[in-house]
Amino acid sequence: MRTKIVAGNWKMNKNFSEADDLLTEILDSIDEKGKPEDVDVVICPPFVYLEMASDMAEDSPVFIGSQNVSQFESGAYTGEISAAMLRSMHVDFAIIGHSERRKYFGETDEMLLGKAKAALKNDVLPIFCCGELLPEREAGKHFDIVKAQLENTIFNLDPDDFNRTIIAYEPVWAIGTGVNATPEQAQEMHFFIRELIWNKFGAEIANDKTILYGGSCTSKNAKELFSMPDVDGGLIGGASLTTSEFVKIIDAAKE
Ligand code: PGA
Repeated sequence: MRTKIVAGNWKMNKNFSEADDLLTEILDSIDEKGKPEDVDVVICPPFVYLEMASDMAEDSPVFIGSQNVSQFESGAYTGEISAAMLRSMHVDFAIIGHSERRKYFGETDEMLLGKAKAALKNDVLPIFCCGELLPEREAGKHFDIVKAQLENTIFNLDPDDFNRTIIAYEPVWAIGTGVNATPEQAQEMHFFIRELIWNKFGAEIANDKTILYGGSCTSKNAKELFSMPDVDGGLIGGASLTTSEFVKIIDAAKE
């Protein structure tokens, strides 16, 4: 059975008390209304709020994730956060390879594979991002780009480890722009990714793989996007910063 996931990526937003308020509101709302049984919810606040978030979410159905993780195990890596540290704070997921990390922090495929391995070794599940730039789509290269991004990274994991990853397709031109991929564009790429997985790891792993869509996903377009057969939920940026929006997006992932 494929798990549906709605994950909120708060990026570098909110001060401490705002983060506390937002998470309190989201948890209260889920507590009151309940959460669709077949949808897992993950919140990825900035690192410095992870301890608070994981304490607050402890008795709730909400999982906590980080927005990055080091590829190194421990030691002299000033400013880095290891997967073991995350695990010790009950952080269950880590976003890896977000396009903003690739663009502004020079993260390479090799680093991303290292991060995925480090996370998995510590039972932190990667939400692994891939997606093409606008000129790449305009040149008709989007399938090749996404294929290479996967083949250079998590396709090198052994099947058991690969099986524990979540993939997020995030066309870079859709992130934070208000221009989402159409449901048809998302479906076409998700189907392509599932086929690649099928060819590399077999039918069972391909069928069970959760593939999220990310990029200007809001309460207005979530239902249509999530109703596509190969779209198994979303990685939500801007719209995860408002409780009412985020909760509506969670509901939209319901069967
Ligand atoms: P957005 O961001 O929803 O604000 O477009 C998505 C993401 O970057 O994960």
